[in-house]
Amino acid sequence: MDDLRDKYLTAIAAAADEAALEDLRVQAVGKKGEVSLQMRELGKMTAEERQVAGPKLNALKDEINSALNAKKQALGDAALDERLKTEWLDVTLPGHRRRPGTIHPISQVTEEVTAIFADMGFSVAEGPQVESDWYNFDALNIPGHHPARAEMDTFYMHREEGDNRPPHVLRTHTSPVQIRSMQEHGAPIRIIAPGRVYRADYDQTHTPMFHQVEGLAIDKDISMANLKWCLEEFVKAFFEVDDVELRFRASHFPFTEPSAEVDIRCSWEGGTLKIGEGDDWLEILGSGMVHPHVLRSGNIDPNEWQGFAFGVGIDRIAMLKYGIPDLRAFFDSDLRWLRHYGFASLDVPTLHGGLSR
Ligand code: PHE
Repeated sequence: MDDLRDKYLTAIAAAADEAALEDLRVQAVGKKGEVSLQMRELGKMTAEERQVAGPKLNALKDEINSALNAKKQALGDAALDERLKTEWLDVTLPGHRRRPGTIHPISQVTEEVTAIFADMGFSVAEGPQVESDWYNFDALNIPGHHPARAEMDTFYMHREEGDNRPPHVLRTHTSPVQIRSMQEHGAPIRIIAPGRVYRADYDQTHTPMFHQVEGLAIDKDISMANLKWCLEEFVKAFFEVDDVELRFRASHFPFTEPSAEVDIRCSWEGGTLKIGEGDDWLEILGSGMVHPHVLRSGNIDPNEWQGFAFGVGIDRIAMLKYGIPDLRAFFDSDLRWLRHYGFASLDVPTLHGGLSR
């Protein structure tokens, strides 16, 4: 037994790596190892012999196992020390060059629209995407029974039975930001409010989440003529054409009176869309003079103030300007699509520097 102990403890101390240690473990205390074979011999001994030899063999086995573990630990520590000495990193070196990311067309178009209206003196306002139904509907002159609520395919937030808080929705349009801005700043006011909106609808030209930009201008003597000029300037600047023809079509929104939907003259000839020529008309936005009830919801006196509002579908005008045929692709996060339609990150759209190059 002493020979066995000397043999294995010496060998373990000298083992060069974990593989050598594992070989020694098998040789010594593995199922058919030398110590295990000795243990089997116990059966052939007399009871007295066994009482002496049994505990000694067990102690030997324990001793060898502890030596194996200690050596394994020591080898691991040494290996780590060695790596720490040889593997090091100069964090001041330049990083890996990756393919630069691109700006999503929706972000690009939002920036373009913002640049155009900023130039006309509009500042940017924002509101929550989870909105109370008062801001999304009632304040905009859409009472509970109004068909517009059903038309909008509203997503309602979940409410527990007995929850008496006012119902909340995912805002179906950016128009609630009109109310919030009027309440916050009063009149006169000139804001645009770009952002996400939600409706339960899904096909080639509808996704359950999409983007709008709201516009609101309130002052003492703002008329439909100002609305018309503003939108014409916007469309010319946005589509980067000198001449456009807009058609104001009488329409209805509960929150504007009178209301108009605006179409733009275009041509689809040869399968490509051209703005400003041709015999087709394409609807691009809703607009009108802000309804007195809406001014009142915003704590503005309709006897003193008046103004216009409009709502443009950002995704829609992005599709038109950049020739993107399917709206759903906007939100698929397909890298090939993003690289193809994305914009260079440092080309910030400005009126003087160019909107979209
Ligand atoms: N909120 C309307 C919509 O989502 C658009 C609109 C905004 C119309 C402002 C008139 C004035 O369809």
